[in-house]
Amino acid sequence: MKEKVLKENFDTIFEENIQPYNELMAYYKCAMMEVETKFRVLNEEFSLQYDRNPISAIKTRLKTAKSIVEKLHRYNFPVNPESVEENLNDVAGVRVVCSFEKDVYLLAEALLSQDDVELISKKDYIKNPKDNGYRSLHLIVAVPIYLVNEKRTMRVEIQLRTISMDSWATLEHQLRYKKNFDFSEEMAEELYICSKLSAELDHKMDKLRKMLNV
Ligand code: GTP
Ligand code: MG
Repeated sequence: MKEKVLKENFDTIFEENIQPYNELMAYYKCAMMEVETKFRVLNEEFSLQYDRNPISAIKTRLKTAKSIVEKLHRYNFPVNPESVEENLNDVAGVRVVCSFEKDVYLLAEALLSQDDVELISKKDYIKNPKDNGYRSLHLIVAVPIYLVNEKRTMRVEIQLRTISMDSWATLEHQLRYKKNFDFSEEMAEELYICSKLSAELDHKMDKLRKMLNV
């Protein structure tokens, strides 16, 4: 039954509303590009100032139609493009992998100080890691995109993390979603220990950064 409802809604979002849905996805893509460019510009400027790159990698992703429909269902929201825009914050995602922990905050502050960037919400899982050990700084921002005849404001989810935080999160995600595998309590405990080691690595690297005064 659940599968059937999901399929019907999936068809609705695709068939009856295909045009507005495709347009909306194009706007999210533009907003994602805007945010990515803002970070690339900051990286350029900081690298001149400090003679090193605060950004190690930037990854962007658009949520798939399937995940969009699943999430709307999960929270009992209507399945249509207006509802996507109103209720979801993570359709457009930008992940910024930084060299050092200090860079995470430097970049976040620099971005948020721009007058066309509006902060919607902030979750600091670096200062307050999740119970499983997950660390990252999450921002939901709204940015304008300029189309031929209008200006629209779109929301983008930004995750800022260090290389060490990123490798932990990537591996944890892979292990957790491994099919036909029972994720035991011992494994969760081991992962938690790994997250502590990863935090320690960040702190040691930051000490080295400070010694070099960069
Ligand atoms: P969603 O409804 O899943 O989007 O999460 P939320 O609205 O509660 O937001 P939150 O900021 O907690 O998490 C959003 C995203 O952060 C997830 O989609 C993941 O990409 C990442 N994330 C959060 N927690 C974890 C975690 O424990 N492990 C990993 N690997 N990633 C996580
Ligand atoms: Mg999400």
